[in-house]
Amino acid sequence: MSDEHSSTTPATTAPRRAVVTGASSGIGAATVRLLRAHGWETVGVARRADRLQALADETGTATIVADLTSQSAVDALREQLDEIGPLHALVSNAGGAIGTDAVALADADDWTRMIDINVIAAQRVVRALLPGLRAGARELGHADIVAVTSTAGQVSYEGGGGYNAAKFALRGMMGALRLELAGEPLRVMQVAPGMVKTEEFTLNRVGGDASKYDALYEGVEHPLLAGDVAEVIVHALELPGHVNLDEITMRPTAQAAAHKLVRRPLEVLAD
Ligand SMILES: NC(=O)c1ccc[n+]([C@@H]2O[C@H](COP(=O)([O-])OP(=O)(O)OC[C@H]3O[C@@H](n4cnc5c(N)ncnc54)[C@H](OP(=O)(O)O)[C@@H]3O)[C@@H](O)[C@H]2O)c1
Repeated sequence: MSDEHSSTTPATTAPRRAVVTGASSGIGAATVRLLRAHGWETVGVARRADRLQALADETGTATIVADLTSQSAVDALREQLDEIGPLHALVSNAGGAIGTDAVALADADDWTRMIDINVIAAQRVVRALLPGLRAGARELGHADIVAVTSTAGQVSYEGGGGYNAAKFALRGMMGALRLELAGEPLRVMQVAPGMVKTEEFTLNRVGGDASKYDALYEGVEHPLLAGDVAEVIVHALELPGHVNLDEITMRPTAQAAAHKLVRRPLEVLAD
C-alpha cells in the first residue's frame, strides 16, 4: 500500500529560506550554521552588526541588523525581507533573561525588558513576516514558525519569576497562533530547552559575573550546547510539511527536571 505522506522530501528541491532572529550568538548562530550546511538560504537578524558580519563571512548567510523591540525597526526588517523574496521558515529565537531576583525584590524595568524581547518582539516579528511566510507556503506547499521558548515557560523556579512570566507568555502566544492559523499549511512549533551552555545567555543574566556563570554549570556533565538545540530546530523544520511538532522539550540527560540537576558524572549503576 502506498503512503503518500511518508516522504521526507520537500515539495520541490528549490532552496528554502529561513529568517533566524537572535542570530548573532548562541542558539541562533548555531541554527544559521546548520541550516546553511543543509542548503537553506538564511537571513540572520540581531542588533550587533559585527557579530552578524562574522557569521555572514563564515556561512554566507544574509543578515539584517534590527532591534526587534522597536516597531520601526521591525517595519524596516519587513521591507528588506520583501525585497529578498518569499519565506519558508521563521525561527523566532531572540530573547533572554535579566537577573535572578525574587518576585518581591525584582526591578520592574528588568521585567519590562524581558517581556519586551521575549514576547512583544516575537509578536511584532510574526505579524510582520506572516505575509512573506504565506508567500513561501504558496511557493513550496508549507511554511513554518519555530519559537525557541524554554522549560522556564513550563515550570516556575525561585529567582525565575520575570523570565518565567515572559516565557510562559510566549508559550501561550504561540499556542494561540497555532489555533488561529489552523486551516493554512503553516506549522507553528515550539522548542523548549532546559539548561543550555551558551556563551552569553547566563552572563547577560547575571550582569557579566563569570563566577556565577561557572557556578551554574559546575559539575554538570554535558549541558546542552547551542548546536544541540539547532539540531532539533532543523529536524523539526525538515520533517514533512504535514508533521507539526507542537512543542519539543529538550534537556541535558543530567537534568531530569528543572529542579533536578545532577552535578556529577553520570554513571551506570550495578543491577
Ligand atoms: N541558554 C539557555 O540556557 C536557554 C535555555 C532555554 C531557552 N533559551 C532561549 O533561547 C534563545 C537563545 O538563547 P541563547 O542561549 O542563544 O542566548 P544568547 O546567546 O544571549 O542569544 C540571544 C540572541 O538574541 C538577540 N537579541 C537580544 N535582544 C535583541 C533585540 N532587542 N533585538 C534583536 N535581537 C536581540 C541577541 O543578539 P544582539 O545582542 O546582537 O541583538 C542574541 O543573538 C532565547 O530566547 C533564550 O531565552 C536559552
